[in-house]
Amino acid sequence: MDPVIGTLDLTAHVDEALAVQALAFGLGPDEVAVRRQIVLRHMQYQGARAYGARVAGLLVGFVYGMPNSRIHWWSTVVEPYLRANGNHAWLDDSFVITELHVHPDHQNRGIGRRLITTITDTATQPRSILSAIDTDSPARGLYHSLGYTDLARQVHFPSAPRPYAVMGAPLPLRRP
Ligand SMILES: CC(C)(COP(=O)(O)OP(=O)(O)OC[C@H]1O[C@@H](n2cnc3c(N)ncnc32)[C@H](O)[C@@H]1OP(=O)(O)O)[C@@H](O)C(=O)NCCC(=O)NCCS
Repeated sequence: MDPVIGTLDLTAHVDEALAVQALAFGLGPDEVAVRRQIVLRHMQYQGARAYGARVAGLLVGFVYGMPNSRIHWWSTVVEPYLRANGNHAWLDDSFVITELHVHPDHQNRGIGRRLITTITDTATQPRSILSAIDTDSPARGLYHSLGYTDLARQVHFPSAPRPYAVMGAPLPLRRP
């Protein structure tokens, strides 16, 4: 059955979404509880939006993001790394992808690509930024194929065990 992509009220469906993220990204119950508060706070930020993919009514993937702001925590962490590479202007006029996750049973069928292109196609900013674990992963493969390039690597977030890469792409995202 083809997934249906549509806007998602992430505040109302936060537990459903985090259940998908927990399986896709490998989060334990404690991490889910922390993420829950973060997601609910993020959804109050100006312009924060989410899309979901549903199969037979069940949420199998979601993406959310917002217009970037230099005063958001994420920006304050990545700013010095981008500045060191001369890339800190990417923090302005950018739509940030905060999370993108697809249930493992539904990966590799184009859902992740559809979710991220759908949300960025409705952004008014001319570019998009995000962070991903700095390794050769399906996520990094997807982002590269959409036109994202590395703006900084080996970025350390407090409490995250692994370093991240910060990536940016012009909008609209590249089509295959
Ligand atoms: C990253 C993720 C969202 C991609 O979703 P998806 O629906 O599986 O991705 P798609 O089917 O749309 O794949 C699109 C592209 O991703 C890349 N990709 C997907 N699976 C891949 C794999 N196993 N190895 C390498 N590249 C892969 C390919 O470039 C693929 O392009 P193609 O369709 O031309 O081959 C999904 O793998 C996921 O949820 N991963 C775990 C959570 C995670 O890492 N989220 C991102 C946090 S930054």
